Amino acid sequence: MNQIYLFDTTLRDGEQSPGISLSTREKLEIADQLAKLGIDVIEAGFPITSQGDFEAVRTIAEKVREPIIAALARAVDADIDRAAEAIKKAERPRIHTFIMSSDMQIQNQLRKTREEVLRMAIDSVKRAKSYVNDVEFSPMDATRSDFGFLCKLVEAAIENGATVVNIPDTVGYATPDEFGKLIADLFKAVPAMNDVIVSVHCHNDLGMSTANALAAVLNGATQVEGTINGLGERAGNTALEEIAMILDTRRKTFGKYTNIKTEEISKTSRLVSSLTGYQVQFNKAIVGRNAFAHSSGIHQDGVLKERSTFEIIDPRRVGISESSLVLGKTSGRHAFRKHLETLGYQLPDEELEAAFGRFKDLADKKSEITDMDIEAILADEVRTASEVYALEYIHVCSGSDTTPTATVRLRKNGEVIEKTSSGDGQVDAVCNAIIWATGVKGNLISYNVNSITGGLDAQGDVTIQLEIKGKPVMGRGVSTDIIEASAKAYLNAINKALCS
Ligand code: KIV
Ligand code: ZN
Repeated sequence: MNQIYLFDTTLRDGEQSPGISLSTREKLEIADQLAKLGIDVIEAGFPITSQGDFEAVRTIAEKVREPIIAALARAVDADIDRAAEAIKKAERPRIHTFIMSSDMQIQNQLRKTREEVLRMAIDSVKRAKSYVNDVEFSPMDATRSDFGFLCKLVEAAIENGATVVNIPDTVGYATPDEFGKLIADLFKAVPAMNDVIVSVHCHNDLGMSTANALAAVLNGATQVEGTINGLGERAGNTALEEIAMILDTRRKTFGKYTNIKTEEISKTSRLVSSLTGYQVQFNKAIVGRNAFAHSSGIHQDGVLKERSTFEIIDPRRVGISESSLVLGKTSGRHAFRKHLETLGYQLPDEELEAAFGRFKDLADKKSEITDMDIEAILADEVRTASEVYALEYIHVCSGSDTTPTATVRLRKNGEVIEKTSSGDGQVDAVCNAIIWATGVKGNLISYNVNSITGGLDAQGDVTIQLEIKGKPVMGRGVSTDIIEASAKAYLNAINKALCS
């Protein structure tokens, strides 16, 4: 009764964030980690939208066993058939079908009548039900819909077999009071809601998505939808790590629990950030790098004397360990494998060998290797696994009185391509050489560099956003040399554009 189910849509709503384009392998990596985190439902994608999305949902449905695997579909036959096909091998499949329910969207976008929408909702739930038992129905833009019509839709969906009704605040307009009241009013007006899971899906346009979801929980909702790191359309969705930690930290207030293994939160956040290219805001609740950093003298003094003076969550609870130095130059293959196992990674021999090679290279350049370094290497390996162009070598010449030049050597299907170019600076030169070698030019929208750990020998983590053929695409690269990290990030973005 008191369990709140967490429905993760990082791979669907999250992937709709500008510039994110994940390969099937990357999506599977994230889905595996979401399963380890204890997520109840993974919305793996929207299969009708592309062959790539279909393949990713199919692969996740086949390989990720514990959570329910959901596929999204509009309330039309073709979408539902495609979603059903994609999840047919799942142990616990769910079809999630949705239709616009506010007059604003029905009239201006869908150009239908309310009666037509009601008919479509009923037909789509029935069709989904003919494939799977578990069917979720969402009236999109519920918070701006006519209440009477919303009740009709929800009631009809339940009558026709929906096992979950989801109430989305699609445009992030509601306030917590309003949203909590909407859920309470729906329960009163549609008693059948007591027989199904009642879900909420809140967007963060006004920064209230977490508060809105909690207000819904206080009024009877039993499932919260969201994403890791709050990714998603526009300002994003409810950050699930926030919901999990609020319900955990304030258990007495809410009296609810989730299935989340909180110690996996930090690692999940880093993996999602690394593979999507979306860096986490430093002061982001729970997973920002400053979330547990105390800088004021008074606070530091307090925490040193007694942690609870200024810390409401023990960082270890979200998987941030205090001593993170793990391996060094002399560590061998066996120790490396063992350590990966303690971090939860079981790599096939070939991948282990590649990761070990990267680790040894890093150990030559960096004296202390931490878990975060190792995770960064592994994520870099996943990112580059299915690339069209692989970066083999770069050489850069630069000085205060010389024009920077760079040579890059790339490999594509066994063919080696080497080009040299100049630029305004070293990064510009290396990117120009890549443009020349691949024949693909991207307009630079943003460039960011961060360090994975502290220390002058830290690995640089570069995120680049390009616009290629009118579409934004993110790339990321990691290396102790930030010029090499930049080259990898630029090439990663080009590879993604070529694969999407
Ligand atoms: O924001 C929204 O309404 C959605 C639906 C598809 C649930 O993402
Ligand atoms: Zn959404």
